[in-house]
Amino acid sequence: MADALDLFGRPLRDLRISVTDRCNFRCTYCMPKEVYGRDHRFLDRKELLSFEEITRVAGTFVGLGTRKLRITGGEPLVRRDVEHLIEQLATLGAELTLTTNASLLAAKAQALADAGLSRITVSLDALDDATFRRLNDVDFPVARVLEGIDAATAAGLPVKVNAVVKRGVNDDQIVPMAAFFRERGQTLRFIEYMDVGNTNGWRLDDVVPAAEIVATLDAAFGVEPVDAGYRGEVAQRWRYRDGSGEVGVITSVTQPFCADCTRARLSAEGKLFTCLFAVRGNDLRALVRGGASDAELEEAVRTIWSGRSDRYSELRSAATTGLDKVEMSYIGG
Ligand SMILES: C[S@@+](CC[C@H](N)C(=O)[O-])C[C@H]1O[C@@H](n2cnc3c(N)ncnc32)[C@H](O)[C@@H]1O
Ligand code: SF4
Repeated sequence: MADALDLFGRPLRDLRISVTDRCNFRCTYCMPKEVYGRDHRFLDRKELLSFEEITRVAGTFVGLGTRKLRITGGEPLVRRDVEHLIEQLATLGAELTLTTNASLLAAKAQALADAGLSRITVSLDALDDATFRRLNDVDFPVARVLEGIDAATAAGLPVKVNAVVKRGVNDDQIVPMAAFFRERGQTLRFIEYMDVGNTNGWRLDDVVPAAEIVATLDAAFGVEPVDAGYRGEVAQRWRYRDGSGEVGVITSVTQPFCADCTRARLSAEGKLFTCLFAVRGNDLRALVRGGASDAELEEAVRTIWSGRSDRYSELRSAATTGLDKVEMSYIGG
């Protein structure tokens, strides 16, 4: 079957699947407490796609050329028995990864590895305990995230670590974090703070541009660029000149990579978004629960993808200000 291509010739290679809009953290840049406090209405259980429904939709994507499935959220490990979903998705033959805050990872790592997860990405924004507790805003300690990382490594899962950098909040953590993960041989990627959603009070002044992050790393350790591994790779890769591994930066704000974007996103209630900055999703749950055949489901996804012309990050200032954008915790990072 022919791979799906969008209006700019971009193939549909990656699908990010949000399995819940809930999270046990309240990271200030993602789910600030003032918005996600007691009165916030999260999705009901029956609104969520079941594991069987997710696997069926993901199978459709694999049929259209998708090679990588990433489980995310909210916090994916708060969805009960998520390892059973991994087991089902593993049968599809795509690379299977998961992004987590690692708070529950120590207990789950072995089950996830046994279920067929290929690798894991852990989000950790500081090594300084006080800074990290302030950022997650639920007083969660760094040490328990590190225990989760160690458990994943012990279970045989390759680990990458992602850190969002916010000016004046954790930019003093760039060098200590790079030194720590370089020593451990684990790849760390720094992410520019993005203007996703409408709730985090984003300001351009809060963004530390990737070029500045790289300059900081170069001054501390000496780094040089590595060629991109494949089309659509989100991180710009840099290697330590002394041969001690790699570090990455994700430049979604200062150097958007829309031209190579091969990603679609499925929300926990089955809406398909063709861009992180999209306002509206396409309701695949209605099709799945309405009795659509496999061929109808595939045709619907192909039609949505082939009509895609999103490149919001490249248009950013003109096009994204004032949009009623979806939240990262809903659409899944
Ligand atoms: C929405 S989270 C979901 C998965 C999981 N809860 C976690 O934190 O890894 C996915 C990723 O999005 C990142 N993220 C959330 N809000 C962001 C923002 N405003 N700018 C850049 N990255 C953000 C998080 O740091 C995390 O690495
Ligand atoms: S970044 Fe992840 S851990 Fe933090 S609030 Fe958002 S979903 Fe939760």
